[in-house]
Amino acid sequence: MKIDGRSMRTIWASDDGRSVNIIDQTRLPHSFEIAALETMEDAGRAILTMQVRGAPLIGATAAYGLALAVAHDPSSTAMQDARSHLLKQRPTAVNLRWALDEMMRVLAPLPEGERASAAWRHAARIADEDVESCRLIGVNGMPLIEEIARRKGPGESVNILTHCNAGWLACVDWGTATSPIYHAHDAGPPVHVWVDETRPRNQGAALTAYELGSHGVPHTIIVDNAGGHLMQRGQVDLVIVGTDRVAANGDVANKIGTYLKALAADDTGVPFYVALPGSTIDWSCSKGSDIEIEERSADEVLLMTGRLDNGAGAKVATVAIGAPGSPAANPAFDVTPARLVTGFITERGVAPASPAGLRQLYPEMGGAA
Ligand code: MRU
Repeated sequence: MKIDGRSMRTIWASDDGRSVNIIDQTRLPHSFEIAALETMEDAGRAILTMQVRGAPLIGATAAYGLALAVAHDPSSTAMQDARSHLLKQRPTAVNLRWALDEMMRVLAPLPEGERASAAWRHAARIADEDVESCRLIGVNGMPLIEEIARRKGPGESVNILTHCNAGWLACVDWGTATSPIYHAHDAGPPVHVWVDETRPRNQGAALTAYELGSHGVPHTIIVDNAGGHLMQRGQVDLVIVGTDRVAANGDVANKIGTYLKALAADDTGVPFYVALPGSTIDWSCSKGSDIEIEERSADEVLLMTGRLDNGAGAKVATVAIGAPGSPAANPAFDVTPARLVTGFITERGVAPASPAGLRQLYPEMGGAA
């Protein structure tokens, strides 16, 4: 996607092949900064502190992190240690494990002398494949938007609600939930996006709104609690969210608050789609309740960071919002049962959120019965 007219991805290897560049998402939307990852530990820290976040990008960063580790020490022991270190940084997005397993599958059989160059190549391939998957999610999802536009009539915008950031910043390019939106905006019917702010870290207000604004897509930020009301009033035509892990039965783990949107969509008859690449399906996990839910720091709930403009120039400041001394809990994801999901939008097409739907899309995986 474009930033100030320049095509960018969220992660790329440096020209000298010694480090990896990322967009530091902890600085957005207040400043646009690129950070260099020079070691496997840097990559781990970037995942943990959410300089990079979003399931597909966490996977791509882990792949490059393993490449950085192998460049330093190509032994099997060092590779295994790097895999374990990277894997424990965030527990819910399965793309992390998927990307590390992909890297190990390719690298482990190679002689040590060939591992470093193969690791860079394979990490780049994982990133490239994510771009193509997300592009195809857009191609496959756009007809859903076009169909609603046809029903609404010429000149009427299709109103799409999304939660968290499942945009290009969460992936390598395009995004998952946003890819059909970008495709529609560029070539199809007019769209307008309701952007859930997504407390506590505000990935919607800070990142999705930044992306959509940079691309010129009409959008409005809403508080997380507004979605149900807008759906009742007929102001939402479609919900599209991303996911961090889909279980083999079709249950969906995504950013905390997704489940409430799915309940409201079900009650009001608004279609609720989940957009994902195949790398986000955990075939070894039979149901959503088995998915580990990350518990993050209470500080994310009790503190808020934003731009302070007192007339003497803007600066970024963090303030406390809770009653002094009150504790906070911060589960970062929730599970939406498959029965509340209208369908999956994937790089292979659209299918029902069920074992049969997943099997139809990925027959080579067998799928759950
Ligand atoms: O905690 P985050 O910001 O990594 O959570 C991200 C999300 O929940 C996204 O919706 C999900 O990873 C899908 S990203 C294409």
